[in-house]
Amino acid sequence: MTRWYIEKKKEHFYKEAKRVGYRARSAFKLKQIQNKFKILNIGDIVIDLGAAPGGWSQVAKEIVGKKGKIIGVDILPIKPINEIEFIQGDITDKNTIQIIKQKMGNRKADVIISDIAPDISGNYSIDHARSIWLCEKALDTAKTLLKHGGNFVCKLFDGEDTKKIIQQIEQCFSSVKRFTPQASRKRSSEIYIIAKSFIKK
Ligand SMILES: C[S@@+](CC[C@H](N)C(=O)[O-])C[C@H]1O[C@@H](n2cnc3c(N)ncnc32)[C@H](O)[C@@H]1O
Repeated sequence: MTRWYIEKKKEHFYKEAKRVGYRARSAFKLKQIQNKFKILNIGDIVIDLGAAPGGWSQVAKEIVGKKGKIIGVDILPIKPINEIEFIQGDITDKNTIQIIKQKMGNRKADVIISDIAPDISGNYSIDHARSIWLCEKALDTAKTLLKHGGNFVCKLFDGEDTKKIIQQIEQCFSSVKRFTPQASRKRSSEIYIIAKSFIKK
C-alpha cells in the first residue's frame, strides 16, 4: 500500500467520522470488530476502557440501545454524551476500579472493551512493553468486573510479548482471536485481541 493510499484511507475515515458525528475515527474500528465478531448485544452493560474522546462509547451505545448501559473510563476528561456515564480515572489505580464497581451496583459487565494506548515515546520496545502492561491491567479489570460468559476486546502494539499476553487471555476465555481492522493504519502495529466467553474461576 502506498503512502498516498494510506493517507487517503485515514482521511476517508476521519471525514466519515465527522459526517456521522463520531468523536473519533477509531469508532470505525469498533464497528468493524462488531461486524466480524458480534461481541456486543442489545441490552448489554459495557465498560469502555480508555474511552476519550468517546467514539467507541458512541458506537457501543448505538448497538446496546436504550436498555443497555455504557460506562466509559479515561485518565482524560470526556465531554458528556447523553445516556453514557464517564469516569475520569486511571485503570491501573485500584480506586478507579472501586468507583466503576460502585457505579455498577451488584451487576457484572457483559462486555469490556479497551482501546487504551500508552503515550507514544517513539522507542518501539518501550511502547510495546507499556501497551502489554496496560493490556494486562485491562485483563485484570475484566477478571474483576466481567460476568461469566462475557466478552473482552483489548488493543495492543504487536511485538515480542504478544504471544505471552494472548496465552494469559486464553486461560480465561473460550475463544481468543487477533484482528486488525481495516480502519487501523497500515503502518501502525496496533492489533486487537478479541476474547469471547469469559470463564469465571
Ligand atoms: C486511542 S485513545 C481511545 C479512543 C477511543 N476509543 C475513542 O474511540 O474515542 C486511547 C486512550 O487511552 C487512554 N489511557 C491511556 N492510559 C490509560 C489508563 N491507565 N487509564 C485510563 N485511560 C488511559 C488515553 O488517555 C487515551 O484517551
